[in-house]
Amino acid sequence: DWTNESVIDEQVDLIRARVGNKKVICGLSGGVDSSVAAALVHKAIGDQLTCVFVDHGLLRQDERVQVEKDYVDSIGVRLVTVDAREQFLSQLAGVTDPEEKRKIIGREFIRTFETAASDLVLEAQEGEGEEIAFLVQGTLYPDVVESGGGSGTANIKSHHNVGGLPDDIQFQLIEPLRALFKDEVRAIGRELGVPEVIVSRQPFPGPGLGIRIIGEVTEERLAILRKADAIAREELTKAGLDGEIWQCPVVLLADVRSVGVQGDGRTYGHPVVLRPVSSEDAMTADWTRIPYDVLSVISNRITNEVDDINRVVLDVTSKPPGTIEWE
Ligand code: XMP
Repeated sequence: DWTNESVIDEQVDLIRARVGNKKVICGLSGGVDSSVAAALVHKAIGDQLTCVFVDHGLLRQDERVQVEKDYVDSIGVRLVTVDAREQFLSQLAGVTDPEEKRKIIGREFIRTFETAASDLVLEAQEGEGEEIAFLVQGTLYPDVVESGGGSGTANIKSHHNVGGLPDDIQFQLIEPLRALFKDEVRAIGRELGVPEVIVSRQPFPGPGLGIRIIGEVTEERLAILRKADAIAREELTKAGLDGEIWQCPVVLLADVRSVGVQGDGRTYGHPVVLRPVSSEDAMTADWTRIPYDVLSVISNRITNEVDDINRVVLDVTSKPPGTIEWE
C-alpha cells in the first residue's frame, strides 16, 4: 500500500541496488525537492553521497545557515559549500536587463557546480574509493510530464580552468521523486527528518534575489532587499497566512526614488513592492487579499527597520497579465 514509509523503503532498496559501492553527488538549492531527494539518497547510501551547495549571494536571509547547519544536523549528510558570491556579483555588475541577468546567473551556476563536481571526481580518483557515477536530481512528476518523459544521462562538461580534468564527466541520474507530487514530497521529507523550514518552503526562483532587484544587482541592494524580505516573510508567517499564499515576492525598485519624511528629516529612498499571490500551479495567479492590519505591520516595520526604504506598495495584478515575479 501507498504509505510514506513504503515509498521510502522501496526507493532505498532501488537506490542501493543501483548504486552499489559507487559514489553519488547532489546539488542542494535549499529548496524542498533537492533537499528531500538528497535525504532519501542519504538514507540509502550514507556517506557515499556528497552534496554541493552553491552560495551565489542571491539567497534570502538565513538560507545558507538552514542548509549548512539545520539540514546537515538533522540529515547527517556530507556537504561542500561553494562560496561564489563575489564571482556572481562581479559577473552581474552593470547588468540591468532581466534576461541577461538570468543568463549570467544560470551560466555561472552551472560553471560553479561543474567545477565543484570535477574537484570531487578528481578527489575520488586520487583516493582509494570508487568513482562518482551518479547525480541526484529532485525531479517531480509534474516536471516529468512537462518535459515529455524521457530520462537519461546528464552530460556535464567540465571547464579547463583546472589542470588535468577529464573532458566530460558523465553521470547517470538518480531521480527518486519522479513519481511524486509536491505534497507527497513534503510528507516524505518530514518522515525523513528534513527541517520544517525547508520542507514547508514556498517556491523561490533559482536566480534568487537577483531578479527581485529591478536594476543593477549590487551587494548594498541585496542587503536592503534581504532585510525587507525577511520582515515580510516573518509577519506573514506570524499572521498564519503561509497556507493561503503561494508565495510573496518582495521586489526592490532600485532605480526609483521618492520623497518621504521620517523623524524631522526629508528622505529620498526606494520603494519595495509586496507581491502576495494565490495559485494552484503558478501558471495563473491572483493577488492575495491580505488583511489590512497585516499589511500595515509589514509596511511600518520595513520603513522603520530598513534604511533606504521609505515606501511599501502592494501589487494588485493577477497573472495574466502580470507574471508572479517582476523580471
Ligand atoms: P512567473 O514570474 O513566470 O513565475 O509568473 C512562475 C513561478 O516560477 C518561479 N520562477 C522561477 N523558478 N527559476 C525557478 O526555479 C526561475 O528562473 C524562475 N523564474 C520564476 C516563480 O517564483 C513562480 O513561482
